[in-house]
Amino acid sequence: MAVAAAVSELEATDQFIPTEEVGPGPFYKAGSPERHSFREKGMDGEPLRINGKVLDTRGRPLTGARIEMWHVNTKGEYDNEGFRLRGQVACAANGEYWFETITPVAYSSRCMHLHVRVSAPSAKTIATEIQFDGDPKATKGSGARTSLAMKTAMNNGERQGTFLFVLRDA
Ligand SMILES: [Fe+2]
Repeated sequence: MAVAAAVSELEATDQFIPTEEVGPGPFYKAGSPERHSFREKGMDGEPLRINGKVLDTRGRPLTGARIEMWHVNTKGEYDNEGFRLRGQVACAANGEYWFETITPVAYSSRCMHLHVRVSAPSAKTIATEIQFDGDPKATKGSGARTSLAMKTAMNNGERQGTFLFVLRDA
């Protein structure tokens, strides 16, 4: 499958440089539900699927890695009352993770982005973003980082992308 091939492709070419951090922003909420899918019945938005791995700086899967993700809806709004478009997953033993959600829109001066907090017992926790290659705002506006721009492709009406996280040792 194309997405699985993309993981090994990124692993083969990645030099395991620690993922750049841009901070959590003001809308982080701890305690989001354990779930891979944020999609709900009747929810607007282009389907988005993300997969990848969490690795250490030697390219090895990080045992016990966990990813929390939160992002805006198609109106550029965060759910600050509940946990819509928020969730967290434990990575598999080989470091792999996946989420299915909807593509976030760019809001105010910001580029399109998914907020993430990535942690593992033996690594330094990071708060950063997955941004989108090809987004007209991807290279401008506050917080835009080329190193965080994920390439995506459409497959059967779903946007798909792969993103590797590399964490420093604790
Ligand atoms: Fe944001």
